Amino acid sequence: MSAKIKRVAVLTSGGDAPGMNAAIRAVVRACSFHDLECVGIFRGLQGLIEGDFKEMGPRSVKNIINRGGTLLKSARSKDFRTKEGRKVAYRNLIDAEIDALVVIGGDGTFTGANVFNDEFDFPIVGIPGTIDNDINGTDYTIGYDTALNTVVEAIDKIRDTANSHNRLFLVEVMGRDAGDIALNAGIGAGAEEILIPEENLGKERLIASLKRSKSSGKTSSIVVVAEGDQSGKNIFELAEYVRENMNEYEVKVTVLGHIQRGGSPSCFDRVLASRLGVGAIDALLEGKRDIMIGISNNKIVHVAFSEAIKGDNKIDIDLIRVADITSV
Ligand code: F6P
Repeated sequence: MSAKIKRVAVLTSGGDAPGMNAAIRAVVRACSFHDLECVGIFRGLQGLIEGDFKEMGPRSVKNIINRGGTLLKSARSKDFRTKEGRKVAYRNLIDAEIDALVVIGGDGTFTGANVFNDEFDFPIVGIPGTIDNDINGTDYTIGYDTALNTVVEAIDKIRDTANSHNRLFLVEVMGRDAGDIALNAGIGAGAEEILIPEENLGKERLIASLKRSKSSGKTSSIVVVAEGDQSGKNIFELAEYVRENMNEYEVKVTVLGHIQRGGSPSCFDRVLASRLGVGAIDALLEGKRDIMIGISNNKIVHVAFSEAIKGDNKIDIDLIRVADITSV
């Protein structure tokens, strides 16, 4: 056990994700288990710059394992992108006698943490929390499973009305750069077509496929479109293109938006968050730093921040095949 670490701070940053509370709870209670002091930092990296700190103990995190959002609140900090902002953040950590930091967030958070570690050599470990599942080196990020279930539940409802009116629905789901939500929720909800940023097959192919399935006897269709899909300028423009090129269906658009980020976390996300939170404190006590705690083949793994933020989101080709086969 590293003798140096006595006081640990924890924060959540970037887009919130269901299960972040369970991760905060696990970090705070793991600190208590190991006789470490724990400080909560509110409003993410921005709160770190503004010194928005509060002491936390096991009872500060009671009754939150089942709650969506984040008790510590979150922010996307522009100030932390500046050297000046990061200097203030470092000063605040030193003044509060904090020895190590746990950041719960996604790509942007880890990028900031990586730069901060390089500049100040301050021990930081990260826990992947984002509904997008777009972090390298971990099979799952906290919030992704809950978001998938939210999307599937919403599309099941859309299917009822689509089917009653013989309509085609284009449903936009989150994922600026990653198609994981679209692809998995699309398969789970039985979508006709799934459009993702990683694979732009073109609008003509979409029309051909929809026409083919219509003539094979389908009376309604659901197309899941990831936010970052490049087929059209946006989903409304894409809907216009479909209207102009096929008159077999009445075309409607539903943008699911931020409902995908809210709600009570699934059991999977709660367990994942608890494991990663405990793993983060274990790693700090082993003297690890500048890493993300991830999960791979159901085992806790340590991934360098530089590796985690690589950004080349890989889509499972087998899933695309399954989607193609099961949607005929
Ligand atoms: O990164 C998570 C995410 O939900 C993305 O899927 C989405 O593009 C983005 O955040 C939206 O961010 P904001 O709430 O800041 O508009």
